[in-house]
Amino acid sequence: MSTPQPKIAVLMGSTTDWEWMQKCVDVLKEFGASFHAQVLSAHRSPQEMLDFSKAAASNGYSVIIAGAGGAAHLPGMIAAATTLPVIGVPCPVGPLAGQDALYSIVQMPRGVPVATVGIGNAANAALLALRILALQDKSLSLKLASYAETQKQAALSSKLDF
Ligand code: RP5
Repeated sequence: MSTPQPKIAVLMGSTTDWEWMQKCVDVLKEFGASFHAQVLSAHRSPQEMLDFSKAAASNGYSVIIAGAGGAAHLPGMIAAATTLPVIGVPCPVGPLAGQDALYSIVQMPRGVPVATVGIGNAANAALLALRILALQDKSLSLKLASYAETQKQAALSSKLDF
């Protein structure tokens, strides 16, 4: 049996970002989602980043997650080169601890949207990508409902120690 073509691409500007982006990959694995993960930098490998982004839809991807720190232009540059939904993860790298990346990613100018999760919250990026795919995947939608139910039960059974 052949491996299904991944619908989710997980890109990051540097291996430095992996400390946070692995949480995204962990969630995707938990859901059994097929994904492709790769380092692609907007300033160190701009041509390769553009080539990947321009071909992403025709290569079968439905959503792209992009994590970056610092000036964090990667998610916006990817979004400029594709019409696929792009989810940006501001990674808390460097002296501004991700605030620079948050502003860079969330403040995309009108016309080129990037959905932005909280600083370092790569798990939410994975969950948002799965919710997008679940619009056309009933079984994935049921898995997400079950995940939400598990969280609900955990919250309701929380014991307070004071
Ligand atoms: C950005 O610069 C990356 O996304 C990373 O968060 C940051 C630092 O990268 P390195 O210089 O550690 O490779 O491009």
